[in-house]
Amino acid sequence: MKRTRIVAGNWKMNKDYEAGLSLASEIFPMIESEVQHDLLTILFPPFVHIHALASLSAGKKAFAIGAQDCSAYVSGAFTGELAASMIKSAGADYVLVGHSERRQYHGETDSLCYEKIKRAIEAGLRPIYCIGELKEQRVAGIFEEVIVAQLEGALAKLTATEMAQLVLAYEPVWAIGTGLTASPEQAQEVHALIRSWIAKQFDIETAQMTSILYGGSVNAANAKELFGMPDIDGGLVGGASLKSRDFTEIAKANH
Ligand code: PGA
Repeated sequence: MKRTRIVAGNWKMNKDYEAGLSLASEIFPMIESEVQHDLLTILFPPFVHIHALASLSAGKKAFAIGAQDCSAYVSGAFTGELAASMIKSAGADYVLVGHSERRQYHGETDSLCYEKIKRAIEAGLRPIYCIGELKEQRVAGIFEEVIVAQLEGALAKLTATEMAQLVLAYEPVWAIGTGLTASPEQAQEVHALIRSWIAKQFDIETAQMTSILYGGSVNAANAKELFGMPDIDGGLVGGASLKSRDFTEIAKANH
């Protein structure tokens, strides 16, 4: 069994409803006609677009829709929050958990991420758990400890069966939206560390089957080299996912 190769587009807080629909209507046929290899493309639009995009991609096995966040609670008096079950019922199959912007601007911790991952799995959503070190931590040479702490803090209490539902995304914070990309070697080093942690914590088979994505200024020019590394199974793409041509070129580079 081979690991699923994935290209995911994180739209963040961009694109109003009509603009989002028209972007997705460009992306789906472009990727369908130009990408010949096995690849799962996941779009992470703002919540309000999920149902429409899920309808647009219905029946196409190479596409899925995801949410950028979910609540740590099942339901109840949490004004403004969205439960994982609601997101699933709107047509999504994936959810990002612990994106660095959630950690940075909303104070999300590893233990909160654990709760979100649990709610997501209970609702039948597959979480993409995002981790990555800050610039200071990379400079200080402590990025390995940071990564392991983020893995321990959110994943150590999962069972191997639960872990098998996850996708991981390594996104060094200093590379997100900055135009600075980790070199393929820097990214590979961390991806290998993540995979060996999964093997130690769970088992080798789970580690071998977990797709690990790289994120942080991925673009059409640097994607091929990154995706060519042995433990990089795809990309989580922000800025370049907002342009159908760029995003399709990134998808084409992932095989
Ligand atoms: P970027 O964002 O590609 O714009 O750096 C990546 C992300 O935040 O997932």
